[in-house]
Amino acid sequence: MMEVAAVLKAELNAEFLATVAEKSDGAALRGDYAHADEQYVVQQDWAAYTEAEHELWRKLYQRQAALLPGRACDEFIEALHQMDAADGIPEFTHTSGELFKATGWTIVAVPGLIPELAFFNHLANRRFPVTVWLRTPAEFDYIVEPDVFHDFFGHVPLLFNPVFADYMQRYGQGGLKAMQLGGLDNLARLYWYTVEFGLINTPQGLRIYGAGILSSGGEVEYCLKPGTGSRHIHLNIERCLRTLYKIDSYQETYFAIDSYQELFDGTAPDFTPLYEKLKDLEVLPANTLLSGEVELLA
Ligand SMILES: [Fe+2]
Repeated sequence: MMEVAAVLKAELNAEFLATVAEKSDGAALRGDYAHADEQYVVQQDWAAYTEAEHELWRKLYQRQAALLPGRACDEFIEALHQMDAADGIPEFTHTSGELFKATGWTIVAVPGLIPELAFFNHLANRRFPVTVWLRTPAEFDYIVEPDVFHDFFGHVPLLFNPVFADYMQRYGQGGLKAMQLGGLDNLARLYWYTVEFGLINTPQGLRIYGAGILSSGGEVEYCLKPGTGSRHIHLNIERCLRTLYKIDSYQETYFAIDSYQELFDGTAPDFTPLYEKLKDLEVLPANTLLSGEVELLA
């Protein structure tokens, strides 16, 4: 459970709610922001990583990679193998060049958590911010902010998929808009339940595409296990935007899509009327099952 709390709390703070000045608990952020530019971009000083850090990366990588067959979606596994990142902390510029050729996305190095405006701006311009620092050995299962392993291993592979890559850009554009419309809490739930904790239906069964799961040792196994009490239901965007999520335990609901195209198409409409409608609707607890909803993994 602890490792889940770690990644997720971090994501909550990091990708939507934090400011660079302080986290919600008032503690200082971990990264070094002194050399960041106005978009919070820094250089990845790859030569400064120690051999011990590369070794820790290899251990994290090996543990996760061993869990992926039969659980992660094929797109993730194939891209991960092509990224050739098993032997140590990767050089972002190398992967970024390959990624650009594939989908027009690039990786930008950031010191850690960045404000939502900068975050959405990067996504809207097909740039994915990746934290430069790696957790310590004591944090193998538990980190308090997203590190390079979560950001790179968890998020970058699926950016090689053209449709998912387009969805991420659209999400960033939607985020900039949501900031103006007071819809950020709603839209954050979509990121949470798709980009971080999403599942996809395949002919072989449910598979994982969410980075929060794929970079977590425990939730990779948990999320596809029947009988845990967690729900697995088909993604409905409006329903998702109303659904609270857990930051201190495994998810109580996982939303599954049938295709990345479905995800992209679902975010095509203007959410302005949806945000208005949601203001009058109750939020739903994380373990809700509405009448008519079918559990995909009873
Ligand atoms: Fe993340």
